[in-house]
Amino acid sequence: MSPGRWVDVGRWVEVGDGVLARRYGELDLTVGLVVGDGACLVVDTRGDAVQGTELAAAVRSVTAAPEVATGPLGVGAEQFGVCASCHGSNGEGGVGRKFSEGEVDKTFPHIEDQLRFVYFGTAQYQVAGVESYGNPEREGGPHLTQSLGVMPGQGALAGGDLTDDEVLAVVCHERYDLGGADPASDEWVEEFEHWCSDESPIYAALESGTSLADLADAGVTDAEGEPIEILPIGDAPAEGSPPG
Ligand code: HEC
Repeated sequence: MSPGRWVDVGRWVEVGDGVLARRYGELDLTVGLVVGDGACLVVDTRGDAVQGTELAAAVRSVTAAPEVATGPLGVGAEQFGVCASCHGSNGEGGVGRKFSEGEVDKTFPHIEDQLRFVYFGTAQYQVAGVESYGNPEREGGPHLTQSLGVMPGQGALAGGDLTDDEVLAVVCHERYDLGGADPASDEWVEEFEHWCSDESPIYAALESGTSLADLADAGVTDAEGEPIEILPIGDAPAEGSPPG
C-alpha cells in the first residue's frame, strides 16, 4: 500500500473487504475496524474517553452492527451495566459503595481481595464469619461486611452470572476507569500490566479456563517469563489484606 493513502487523517479508508482503517494525527495512530455480518470489531480504542466517544461516532458512520469489546477494560465496561444500578454509572456510589476518586483502591490495595469479594459477595462473607473484606487499615476505618448493605455475589460458586474472566474485567474497570488509578504511575504500573492491560497474562489464563480460586498456583508468568506473584484468592471468603 502506498504511504500516501494514510496521509488523509480522520477518514475511513477501506483496505480490504469489510476492513477499514482510520488515521489520527495525535500519536500518529491508526485505528482498525472489521465489519462482520452481525458484529464489528474495533482495533484500538484511542487514548481517553473523549477520543473514545469520537471513535464510537466514527464507527457508527460506517456500521450499525454491535461492537465486540476486547481486553479486560473493554469487556469490564460492558459488564459494569449490572453493577451501575447500585454503584452509579460513574462509580459515584448509591445503594452500593463509591468507587470513584480512589475510594475502591483504598479499600483494596491488593486486587486479589477485591476479586474475592466481588466473586462471593456479602452473604457468603457473613456465612463464613469474615468481618473485614478489604484493607483492615483503611483510611477512615475498614469497610466491614454488611456495614452498608448486601453486595450480591457475582461468581459461579456464589450463584452469580459472571465467569471468572468477567469478574476480573469488571474489577479492572472499577479500579482503573472508575476508581482513577493511573496505569502509568509507579504505584499501579505493575498491577496494570499483569492484570488489566490488553496483554494481561492473568486475563489470558482465566480466559483459557484457569479459575480465580487456583490462580495463585497456576504458574502465570509475565512478558519476560518471570513468575507473577499472586495472593491466594481461594474458593471461600477470607479476610482482606493491608497494603505492602
Ligand atoms: C443490589 C445492589 C448491588 C449491585 C447490583 C452490585 N453491588 Fe457492589 N455493593 C453493594 C453494596 C450494598 C455494597 C456494600 C457491601 C457491604 O457492606 O457488605 C457493595 C460493595 C461493593 C464493593 C466493595 C467496595 C468498597 O470499597 O467497600 C465492590 C468492589 C463492589 N460492590 C463491586 C460490585 C460489582 C463489580 C458489581 C457488578 C458486577 C456490583 N458491585 C453490583 C451493592 C451492589
